[in-house]
Amino acid sequence: MLNIPTRANALLLLISITFAPLAHGFLRPAPVPEAAPDARGLPADEKGGPHIAHGENDSYDRRNPDFTTLQQADDALTGLPLDQNGKVDWARALRDGAISPRETLRGDDTYLPLDLDIIMRNTKAMPFVRFPHKTHTEWLSCSNCHPAIFAQKAGTAKIRMEDIFRGEFCGRCHDRVAFITHRACFRCHSVPQPNGIQIP
Ligand code: HEC
Ligand code: HEC
Ligand code: HEC
Repeated sequence: MLNIPTRANALLLLISITFAPLAHGFLRPAPVPEAAPDARGLPADEKGGPHIAHGENDSYDRRNPDFTTLQQADDALTGLPLDQNGKVDWARALRDGAISPRETLRGDDTYLPLDLDIIMRNTKAMPFVRFPHKTHTEWLSCSNCHPAIFAQKAGTAKIRMEDIFRGEFCGRCHDRVAFITHRACFRCHSVPQPNGIQIP
């Protein structure tokens, strides 16, 4: 169908043409410091837009004036155990003693993790999910999950994978700050079912 311009449309067009440069003037983004040269020779983000990660372990803001003085991720992460996705397996790094972070900010206190596994059985043919409180409470406090994400009662949350992929439940952290779910299904689905999909 042909889009015949109405008088209202024409007026809107005129207004936007007239005021666009003005709006541009008002809505100019805050000035950002000159992009620091990239130590690995990748082009810096010229347009000043949101930074797009180029490399595997690249989560630095190249426009930060201290970019070049920071230790590069590849140096810092060398030798740490990796998962199926080629990312650092932080849970194993901690278990194996490859890292030993302070338990509290000032390092003057100890924090006992909660050793309680929750087995989640609503997994169709996939192996059941073991949710280990121990691994999580080595990094997090109870209030990171309770009560906003999960009730303190096993079997309350009705979780589908698509919710996780969309960033709900486990996906609040996994695929974001904690390990990536694709190709790592069996890190969560770790309890075999007699007639289900076998763990490779
Ligand atoms: C971060 C942990 C985690 C990872 C990784 C993960 N899952 Fe899940 N999955 C869950 C949880 C939790 C449930 C819900 C279990 C329950 O409520 O009893 C679930 C449920 C499921 C279900 C049944 C519900 C539904 O949505 O159909 C299937 C099928 C499934 N997962 C497949 C997969 C596959 C395939 C992968 C890898 C691509 C995967 N999962 C990776 C945690 C995970
Ligand atoms: C990373 C998220 C996370 C953290 C952190 C966490 N929990 Fe949980 N907790 C869960 C999940 C998931 C369940 C199961 C909820 C469900 O099945 O609906 C659960 C269930 C529970 C339950 C119920 C157990 C049962 O058998 O019914 C208790 C009690 C509990 N948590 C206590 C704690 C305490 C105490 C802490 C801190 C030391 C803590 N949790 C930290 C995620 C977490
Ligand atoms: C509040 C954040 C958060 C939530 C919510 C969360 N996790 Fe995690 N999870 C972590 C962190 C942090 C780690 C440790 C770092 C890593 O392995 O990436 C971790 C590690 C794990 C591990 C590795 C255990 C090991 O010892 O190797 C499993 C399995 C896991 N999570 C399953 C789940 C499942 C299943 C859910 C949902 C029921 C869930 N997580 C919800 C943050 C979270």
